[in-house]
Amino acid sequence: MANELTNPILSTRDLKKSFLGVTAVNGATFDVPRNLITALIGPNGAGKTTVVSLISGQIKADSGQVSIDGVDVSGWPAHRISQQGLMRTFQLSRELGGMTVLENLMVSARRQSGENLLNVFLRPGAVKKEEQALAERALEILNRYGLYHLRDSRAQALSGGQKKLLEISRAVIADPKILLLDEPMAGVNPALIEKIGEYIIDLRNGGMSILMIEHNLGIVEKICDNVIVLAEGRTLATGKMSELRENEEVVRAYLGEVINADNGR
Ligand SMILES: Nc1ncnc2c1ncn2[C@@H]1O[C@H](COP(=O)(O)OP(=O)(O)O)[C@@H](O)[C@H]1O
Ligand SMILES: [Mg+2]
Repeated sequence: MANELTNPILSTRDLKKSFLGVTAVNGATFDVPRNLITALIGPNGAGKTTVVSLISGQIKADSGQVSIDGVDVSGWPAHRISQQGLMRTFQLSRELGGMTVLENLMVSARRQSGENLLNVFLRPGAVKKEEQALAERALEILNRYGLYHLRDSRAQALSGGQKKLLEISRAVIADPKILLLDEPMAGVNPALIEKIGEYIIDLRNGGMSILMIEHNLGIVEKICDNVIVLAEGRTLATGKMSELRENEEVVRAYLGEVINADNGR
């Protein structure tokens, strides 16, 4: 544990972001340990999604630092951050609806590898080989997540749950060091929730580090090794779920509300 804590895969320091006078993130400071599943929890509007977007470079922080695997990436654009080994999924799936499921994965992987246009002109043979390898890898991932039979279907025709799986596949094909998941199980049926939980555990067992926003505390308790609580844009506490249940401040800010509301939404 000492090594995980002293050598985190991801760190944020005093991240801040306001939107037209509304403070969304107000000093988020936390470390995400390596090779574990960490949950990011907190009330609606706590700033969880904004924190993930600040880390992944989709939006720029007003101030504060982010480092990935010891590299200061503060202010970097999203494509450079993904090349540094961080991928994220979105709360609302962002598949390219008109493309097939397989094409969605290919586009995502090419984006990540930073398509080298010179190669296309100078070494068409090498590019073709790379494309074949990529397609093989994409099909292997679709098979792993039960989407293989849908490879030639347009992404827009998928069910909500299948779109969540495609969203995860599109991130996983880049083989990130750390994967940020924004509510990967929201609106998904119980059987698929169970499966997605197993997929996430498999990724961790394969050496990936995970940070996931999740409202269902039963799932957090079951699959997450570590929990970060965000409230009003600040880190309120970190620890194991069982420890946080004993933390009065956390219960007052979030857990009490969730328990009373029958586990959120
Ligand atoms: N693009 C935006 N423009 C304006 N306000 C935003 C934007 N994104 C988030 N917010 C506001 O920031 C706060 C935190 O939102 P969010 O990060 O989505 O919270 P959470 O994911 O924890 O529910 C909310 O008050 C929300 O309305
Ligand atoms: Mg959110």
